[in-house]
Amino acid sequence: MASSSMHQLSFARHPLLPRTCRLQPRPRFSSVRFPSFSVRASSAVAVELDTGTQKDPTLDGEIFSCPICYEPLIRRGPSGLNLEAVYRSGFKCKKCNKSYSSKNNFLDLTLTAGLRDYVEVKPARTELFRSPVVSFLYERGWRQNFNQSGFPGQDEEFKMAQEYFKPAEGGLLVDVSCGSGLFSRKFAKSGTYSGVIPLDYSENMLRQCYDFIKQDDAVLKANLALVRADVSRLPFSSCSVDAVHAGAALHCWPSPSNAIAEITRVLRSGGVFVGTTFLRYTPSTPWIILPFRQRTAQNYSYLTAEEIEDLCTSCGLTNYTRKIQQSFIMFSAQKP
Ligand SMILES: C[S@@+](CC[C@H](N)C(=O)[O-])C[C@H]1O[C@@H](n2cnc3c(N)ncnc32)[C@H](O)[C@@H]1O
Repeated sequence: MASSSMHQLSFARHPLLPRTCRLQPRPRFSSVRFPSFSVRASSAVAVELDTGTQKDPTLDGEIFSCPICYEPLIRRGPSGLNLEAVYRSGFKCKKCNKSYSSKNNFLDLTLTAGLRDYVEVKPARTELFRSPVVSFLYERGWRQNFNQSGFPGQDEEFKMAQEYFKPAEGGLLVDVSCGSGLFSRKFAKSGTYSGVIPLDYSENMLRQCYDFIKQDDAVLKANLALVRADVSRLPFSSCSVDAVHAGAALHCWPSPSNAIAEITRVLRSGGVFVGTTFLRYTPSTPWIILPFRQRTAQNYSYLTAEEIEDLCTSCGLTNYTRKIQQSFIMFSAQKP
């Protein structure tokens, strides 16, 4: 059984084969813990380093890919999808000859990781959350305020998301724009997924995320790694992720269309995307003022329910469904 799933993995990841999600879905990890999965990753590194030849590229098994070329990264260090192993590992893209490493317990897989002179400034809606003060306050009152706009609250939102994620149970979940990790911790603790990757662009949110994780042994020991990345450039191979969650995030992204295209790319066939955001209109907004509602208000990018559906379906996602309460929308869509 184990060898047959290994064979499947090898076959699915051969670089000379077309990377069609439909024909070669990524094997599920429900019964395969990441340590054994990643032992193969480290053997690949060993083969690579010892012989200088790429004996069996399919052995790499690394879930992180280069944000420049999307080739799986080569890991040097302890195996496993856990905070310690990833923190103590170095990652390298053989193609781009670029190295990536962890800083303060998160692995920096942004395009700008390690740059000395160039500094990228994103739109205000992204930059705001990089602030240490906002990151500190986020789970200490800021997020709770969303309830006034119709957000049902963390526990209820988690339950709703888990329902949508049923087809992805046992797989790898990426919590894109995780903030301080309020949902990542719940996903990790639920035991529903083989691995959870809290991912955010904000270094300070990821530090908060780590501080909260440290306080909960069950989460600390979970198959989990903190990653810094831009939602428009996700560091995963195409068709390699089972579930993507993006709570209260779409209105903060510099380009929702780039982000949803990128989420679609990384999802495997049958993989599920669940997001929440604030809508530009509430169901009770009088029709007479609809044309005057700005898409960009208070620096955020608020879409309508129809625009969100349009974006998802134009990227090829199907089974679109949504729940709306005042300005809150939770939507879900699936990769065919
Ligand atoms: C309002 S918070 C949502 C946090 C959490 N998911 C929740 O449900 O409360 C929005 C998050 O989006 C992140 N973000 C903004 N722009 C991003 C980008 N380009 N790539 C990844 N994350 C981004 C911010 O850093 C922030 O943590």
